[in-house]
Amino acid sequence: MLNKIKEHIAEVEAFTATSKDEIEQFRIKYLSKKGLLNDFFAEFKNVPNEQKKEYGQTINKLKTAAQEKVDTLKATLEAEEEIKGVYGDLSRPGEPIELGSRHPISIVKNKITEIFSRIGFNVSEGPEIEDDWHNFTALNLPEHHPARDMQDTFFVQTDPDIMLRTHTSTVQVRYMENNKPPIRTISPGRVYRNEAISARSHCFFHQVEGLYVDKGVSFADLKQTLQYFTTELFGKSKIRLRPSYFPFTEPSAEVDVYWGLETETDYKMTKGTGWLEIMGCGMVDPNVLKNCGIDPEVYSGFAFGMGIDRIALLLHQIPDIRMLSENDMRFLQQFKSVL
Ligand code: PHE
Repeated sequence: MLNKIKEHIAEVEAFTATSKDEIEQFRIKYLSKKGLLNDFFAEFKNVPNEQKKEYGQTINKLKTAAQEKVDTLKATLEAEEEIKGVYGDLSRPGEPIELGSRHPISIVKNKITEIFSRIGFNVSEGPEIEDDWHNFTALNLPEHHPARDMQDTFFVQTDPDIMLRTHTSTVQVRYMENNKPPIRTISPGRVYRNEAISARSHCFFHQVEGLYVDKGVSFADLKQTLQYFTTELFGKSKIRLRPSYFPFTEPSAEVDVYWGLETETDYKMTKGTGWLEIMGCGMVDPNVLKNCGIDPEVYSGFAFGMGIDRIALLLHQIPDIRMLSENDMRFLQQFKSVL
């Protein structure tokens, strides 16, 4: 009998439970009216006198062990439940963290700045709300100059001197006013024009302007730089420069890159010519250098400007420029894997 009780003590000490039910079963088994302990107590009178002492001590030990077990198991379980109530199940796996994506405009902007940084260009920025001097006058577009109409401008109604910049050439002016040659900088940013919104054009879009001013900068340097750029960005090295006009450059040119005519998409994109117009460029007009405090007798420079949005449409085959500003998650999520 004594050994049996000792076995029970070992069993009680080893017992664990994960639910209130299990603890209750355990309590009933040992401590209830019909429980084992009462049976053992009832046996007491039949135990020979000389064993009574040890027998009594052993069942008492079993009783205490069972009671303590019930108490501690209950306490632990309740504490766990309380934590669950406050924090939920602490052992569950963490919330899946969604991978973010960059906006296609940022992707293309970063690519362009990276390509130019490799040949020594830094990045400069300027304000989106500009004055007449930086958007027009300093860029060889004095008041009433007909070329001001090339870019439909949003003016701030109360002050005709203040406007939303129509191009990032404004940063070119600011940079030359504040820095001495040699200057090698590119200026990405948002620009605004009062144009009808369609699949191909928007009233705001993004440009990157490039500027290089130093002694002896030539048109050949410009062409070489642009060729390096198109090779790096598009993997296409064949370019052509068509004579064009910008008030702030002389001579000026439009840059076309030869895209090819391999696929049906190539035909569509290039309207069957194989050529894509990607930017404007030219040698900085001596008047502009003068306006910005640089001596055109000593220095010369080239500048170029391109639309980031258009390049993003080309590179990612996006059919409508408006998608770039709608913030539709279904669209943006497709750029997750692009850095
Ligand atoms: N600023 C011109 C535009 O917005 C682009 C350009 C920049 C052309 C620099 C030549 C040189 O159309």
